[in-house]
Amino acid sequence: MDHFIYKDGALHAEDVPIAEIAAAVGTPFYVYSTATLLRHYRMLDEALEGTDHLVCYAMKAASNQAILKTLAQAGAGMDVVSGGEYMRAKAAGVPGDKIVFSGIGKTADEIRLALKGGIRQFNVESEPEMEVLNRVACEVGVTAPITIRVNPDVDAKTHAKIATGKSENKFGIPIARAREVYAMAGAMEHLDVIGIDVHIGSQLTDLAPFELAYQKVAELTEILRADGHNIRRLDLGGGLGIPYARSNEAPPLPTDYGALVKRTVGHLGCEIEIEPGRLIAGNAGCMISEVIYVKSGEGRNFLILDGAMNDLIRPAMYEAHHDIIPVIEPAPGTEQAPIDIVGPVCESGDTFAKQRMMPPVAAGELVAFRSAGAYGAVMSSEYNTRPLIPEVLVHGDQYAVIRARPTFDEMINRDTIPPWL
Ligand code: LLP
Repeated sequence: MDHFIYKDGALHAEDVPIAEIAAAVGTPFYVYSTATLLRHYRMLDEALEGTDHLVCYAMKAASNQAILKTLAQAGAGMDVVSGGEYMRAKAAGVPGDKIVFSGIGKTADEIRLALKGGIRQFNVESEPEMEVLNRVACEVGVTAPITIRVNPDVDAKTHAKIATGKSENKFGIPIARAREVYAMAGAMEHLDVIGIDVHIGSQLTDLAPFELAYQKVAELTEILRADGHNIRRLDLGGGLGIPYARSNEAPPLPTDYGALVKRTVGHLGCEIEIEPGRLIAGNAGCMISEVIYVKSGEGRNFLILDGAMNDLIRPAMYEAHHDIIPVIEPAPGTEQAPIDIVGPVCESGDTFAKQRMMPPVAAGELVAFRSAGAYGAVMSSEYNTRPLIPEVLVHGDQYAVIRARPTFDEMINRDTIPPWL
C-alpha cells in the first residue's frame, strides 16, 4: 500500500496534487511520500517485535538526506556502502552507533573515516579487508566491531545482476571456510568479532531462499560459539521484494518475513539487524514525466516522454517493469491500446515499456512511473547533458524540493579546461 492515489480524478501524493508540483518544479521529477516511507519502515520494525533488533535502511536505495532524516527520526539505523554514504548519513544526523558499513571494496581511507566518526560495525567480506581494518584500527587506536559476511551458496531466484548469495558471486566468504576466517579474525588484536552477516540478493519474491540462508547462519552461530567466538549479533541483510506490476504480483508480507526470522534465528538470543532498501523506499516514490510527442510508427505507436533512461535506468539495465499511469484518472471503461513508452535519448535502450496497454494520453499530459522510489534518483546520470532531475518530498498537504534541478550553467561549469587549450 502507498499514498499515491487518485482523488477527484487526479493523482495525488498524500494530499498534494501531482499536477501542482509539476507546475511548480517542472518535469521530470521524483516525488516521495513521507507517509509511505514511514509505513514501510514501521511494518518491518513491527514484524521483528519481540526481538532485540535494528532496521538499518540500505540508503543506496534512495539517499537524499531528507529521506534519511525522516527514517532516522523514526528510529532507523543506516546501512552504508561508501565513504560518501557514511558522510551523508552523518550529515542527516544519524549517530555512528546506528551505522553499519557494508561492501566488498572498502578502502583504508573509508575505513579510517568511519572509525574516527563512529560506527556500529563493519560487515567484512574478505581476509585482505580484515587485515587492512585491523591495521587502520591500530593506527586510529580503537577496536573495530565486525561481523563477517558469509556467502551461503543459496539461489535467491532473482535477476542475475542483483543476486549475491551464490558461490560464483563476488560477495562474502564461502560459508564452508567460515571457521578458518573467524579464527583469523579472532586472533587480530584490533578487531572485535561480534557476529555474522548475510545478504543473498535483492527483489526476492519468495521467502524460501531466506529460510535456507538463515538456517545456515543459525547452524554457523552454534559452531562458531563452540569455537569460542562470542557471536551476539546477526545482520540478515535486505532483499525483500516489492510488487512492481501491481495487477499480478504479491511478494511476501513483512509479517511473514518477521515470523521466518524468529523461527530460524530467534532461539539464538542474538541482536538482529536487517538492511532493507527497496521495501522501504520503492513504493514510496514515483517519477513524474510529461509526454512530449505521440508518434505513429510502422505498426506501432510511441509515447515519447521528457524522462529518459538517464533519469530511471532500471528498465534499460534490468528489463525492470514499472507501472506507468496517467496523472489524470482515466474515466471508467476508457479503452486501452498497446504503445511503446520511450525517452528522448538517442539509443533504442531508452525504452521504458514495449506494447504497454495504456489509456489514451496526449502530448502535454503527465504520467507517473510507480515504484520508482528505490534505485531511481540514486542511479540517475547526466548522460546527454540532461540535468539530474529534482526530488520532492511530500508530507500531508505540504511538499518541498529536497534536491533542485541544476541549471545548464551549473552543469557545464563543472568542467575545467586545461591550460593548453
Ligand atoms: N544490504 C546489502 C549488502 C546490499 O547489497 C543491498 C542491495 C541491500 C542490503 C538492500 O537490498 P534491498 O532491500 O534494496 O533489496 N540497483 C538494483 C538493486 C541493487 C541492490 C544492491 N544491493 C535495482 O535497481 O534493482
